[in-house]
Amino acid sequence: MLQQIEHIGIAVTSLAKAIPTYEALLGVPCYKQEKIDSEAVMTAFFRTGNTKIELLEALSDQSPIHRYIARHGEGMHHVAYLVDDIRAEMDRLRAQGHTLLQETPKEGADHKWVCFLHPKSCHGVLTELCQERD
Ligand code: CO
Repeated sequence: MLQQIEHIGIAVTSLAKAIPTYEALLGVPCYKQEKIDSEAVMTAFFRTGNTKIELLEALSDQSPIHRYIARHGEGMHHVAYLVDDIRAEMDRLRAQGHTLLQETPKEGADHKWVCFLHPKSCHGVLTELCQERD
């Protein structure tokens, strides 16, 4: 099962502008910035209660975040749920007819294994499963 919302991902055009905005909004400092080469994005993380906000800035025109912002503008990009056995959840959701965007878990930001479900599969919301990496 999906344990809790681990983070919400927000697509931004500029982390340099968005980080101070979110630090002021949430009242906490950004605790980590991490580059994800496979997605051509730079991420910035904030803790809020027992969940997190992940800001995402595209590093190239090939980045999914670049394409997202070109189509939709800045804004909410995905919801990520924490799971304790990502392979078992992928099997369970595949069996329910969900469209998974990865065949196997891939390395995501913030020490996670991740897999995405197609937005069409979740009523318009790009959905991420994530599990802590040892
Ligand atoms: Co995410």
